[in-house]
Amino acid sequence: MGTADSLPRLAILASGSGSNMQAIVDACNDGTIPARITVVGSNRPGAGVLERAHRAGIPQVILDHRDYATRDAFDRAMLAELEPHAPDLVILAGFMRILTPLFIASFRGRLLNIHPSLLPKYPGLKSHARALAAGDREHGATVHFVTEELDGGPPVLQASVSVMPEDNADTLAAKVLELEHRIYPQAIAWWVTGRLRLTAGEVTLDGKKMPETGIPYAQCKT
Ligand code: GRF
Repeated sequence: MGTADSLPRLAILASGSGSNMQAIVDACNDGTIPARITVVGSNRPGAGVLERAHRAGIPQVILDHRDYATRDAFDRAMLAELEPHAPDLVILAGFMRILTPLFIASFRGRLLNIHPSLLPKYPGLKSHARALAAGDREHGATVHFVTEELDGGPPVLQASVSVMPEDNADTLAAKVLELEHRIYPQAIAWWVTGRLRLTAGEVTLDGKKMPETGIPYAQCKT
């Protein structure tokens, strides 16, 4: 393990409770992810993720999106705040902002997101309720690279869970969140160790083209 300042640098952007961020902090601390989180940014003052970052001793950037007249203005401000932290990889973990092409271009191939559905099913909001309404027997989460298409970037890793008759949106969300906490650290570890790359719109792991919907987590060996 290199010294702390030689490790890849991660920035996490989040708007909510931060359980995904916590899973990533824990994975960095136990060496699963050989990297360090240099900053946690949020658009929501008071978000739970900021308290978790404080407890983990990670610098926080708080930019209330209501203070910015346009998405471009918010994104430029966030880019300026991230700059001194020089992240190698930017991780969206429940970041409820639609990013502008300006932001995405700044981090193309170095910007990941996790979405609570088996993409390309149910991009956008309320994915659990939509899966239930459709009578899906399987549901899950997808880690993907971020491109200009909302929740449409190329998938990296997908994990699924059975939908039971007694499930509702809350029980399903809880089951999916557990999957998220496993697949996100795995995908991040692949990226920081140079195994996962997005090149010219194509995702490769160890130089091999990724399946269209990413690798099913159940098939992951490492
Ligand atoms: C997760 O459900 C994730 O799929 C979605 O936002 C939620 C973040 O939860 N993008 P948390 O803030 O990480 O607990």
